[in-house]
Amino acid sequence: MPSRFLIIAAVMAVAAFSVSNTSAQAPKLDYEFFKSRVQPIFLAKRPDHARCYVCHVESNNAFHLERLSTDALGWTEEQSRRNFETVSKLVNPGDPDTSRLLLHPLAPEGGGDVFHSGGRQFQSKRDASWRTLAAWVKGATLGSPEKEK
Ligand code: HEC
Repeated sequence: MPSRFLIIAAVMAVAAFSVSNTSAQAPKLDYEFFKSRVQPIFLAKRPDHARCYVCHVESNNAFHLERLSTDALGWTEEQSRRNFETVSKLVNPGDPDTSRLLLHPLAPEGGGDVFHSGGRQFQSKRDASWRTLAAWVKGATLGSPEKEK
């Protein structure tokens, strides 16, 4: 019994340490901001471009979104949580410029990756949606001042 307690205490100490350690360097990704500002970008129709959702719903690459139920306008709370988990792994909190989610769909001339099968979704980092993604990666919350316009 006492040894099990010690292990639990040790695990908690390590967890507490790593939480405080990462939060000192990188901002925390905000779920509410993701849900109401980032997710709509994946569903939005942009002129001349297919929606991220069309190609990335249940796709077999690392960016796979939950399937919307028929005639639902958005994801359920549970699905949004899963999307949040998936998408969080594609970004480096605090650093949009090294985040795959932001570089992959960005045109190479705009500083993005050379190739994305889904095309150049964003021409440059001035794109409003791109800036919203970047704001989320930098830890924006719904309450934080509007920076991305
Ligand atoms: C026409 C289909 C299509 C559209 C639209 C599309 N993508 Fe993709 N995307 C792909 C395919 C196919 C891949 C995997 C091959 C590759 O890396 O190009 C991919 C890969 C990615 C990856 C890398 C995933 C990994 O495994 O590391 C990211 C991030 C990404 N897309 C983001 C986006 C975003 C954000 C949008 C919308 C703004 C978008 N894509 C729109 C087809 C698409």
